[in-house]
Amino acid sequence: MTLTTLVTATTLQHPLDVVGDDLRTPTGLRFAHLDYAASAPCVHAAADAVADLLPRYGSVHRGTGIRSQASTAAYEHARQEVAEFVGARAGDTVVFTRNTTDALNLLARALPPGTTTIVFDGEHHANLLPWPRQLRLATPRSPEAAVAAAAEALRTVRGPAVLAVTGASNVTGEVWPVRRLADVAHAHGARIVVDAAQLAPHSPVDLAALGADYLAFSGHKLYAPFGAGVLAGRADWLDAAPPYLSGGGASAAVGTGAGDVRWATGPARHEGGTPNLLGAVSLAAVCAALRRADREELHEREQTLLRRLRHGLAAVPGVIEVSCFGPDHPRVGIVSLALPDHDPAVVAARLADRYGIGVRAGQFCAHPLTRHLTGSTVISGCGAGPASLLRVSFGLGTPDEDVDRVVAALAELTEG
Ligand code: ALA
Repeated sequence: MTLTTLVTATTLQHPLDVVGDDLRTPTGLRFAHLDYAASAPCVHAAADAVADLLPRYGSVHRGTGIRSQASTAAYEHARQEVAEFVGARAGDTVVFTRNTTDALNLLARALPPGTTTIVFDGEHHANLLPWPRQLRLATPRSPEAAVAAAAEALRTVRGPAVLAVTGASNVTGEVWPVRRLADVAHAHGARIVVDAAQLAPHSPVDLAALGADYLAFSGHKLYAPFGAGVLAGRADWLDAAPPYLSGGGASAAVGTGAGDVRWATGPARHEGGTPNLLGAVSLAAVCAALRRADREELHEREQTLLRRLRHGLAAVPGVIEVSCFGPDHPRVGIVSLALPDHDPAVVAARLADRYGIGVRAGQFCAHPLTRHLTGSTVISGCGAGPASLLRVSFGLGTPDEDVDRVVAALAELTEG
């Protein structure tokens, strides 16, 4: 199926076309958005889903009127769409959260007592900081080293264990060997949780195919920036855990004494308070559009752009692409650069002001990883310091021209 066959009768836009791809800077330049890894633009599937529901919007799970009925149905339909997107198996559940950080914090609080989490320090802080009892491993230099280090660590753990790993790095874009890590984890009786925040926008994320027990991802990186995220996977630990947010919705029956409460079961247990209906529905609309799309074609398009970008950057002196696993390792549409003779924050500001290009500079909420990549030992804040990098990231709707513009602009700026 080609993309064009997916255009519906009710809209002239393809559901995966970006909203606002003609944004202009104050100086009249067409804005080149190359910071998808932080927040991807909204696509029409998400915007249309919100526009469709807004006139009928009401409370979820809390009313009898037609607004509430429509909203409850839309919310549970969204859960079903997401379940299909991740290939939920018998015994899996889908919980709507605020974002990936929220999803991983939820799981961290639901771990059985005494669980050890094994985590590489090459993770985003969202997958580094929430785990209460962790065994921290150094960033590996190859996928094989990652698998070997995880196996070695798992051999030493007594009691329940979880391996927490990214699907694709938010700094280098490199794809981690999730399937092999899952096999190692399972061979040791452990579970694996995949931070799929950067993988889901670029690649299918099927729980069974990845061998994952849990997946977490965010709407704002999946072209649905309406404040929702997902934790999907094994229901048993979540059903046994205390509710993530105590309150209405999470409680089934409440007595008069302190603590006299019977908590809800299923996803409601961890979705206390009125849920983010529009966030869930827009996220699910993108999941549905991606499921219908030709993912192979989207992948090819992205890899062609990636080659164009990397080829262009390789010819720019003073710009050094960073990686954990080497230049030939598969990656998604993310490239980070060390600029030894320049401050990445200043270059990023000039790219925005002079060239109308949006990128991100800093340490990308992955401080141990950026220190590893730059060889720096200096612990500093997000925006500056010797571990700072400049990141270019893209996805659906990015034209060749934007990639060429950033290469040409970096050549001028670093020469100067
Ligand atoms: N995690 C997001 C990023 O990498 C915010 O930019």
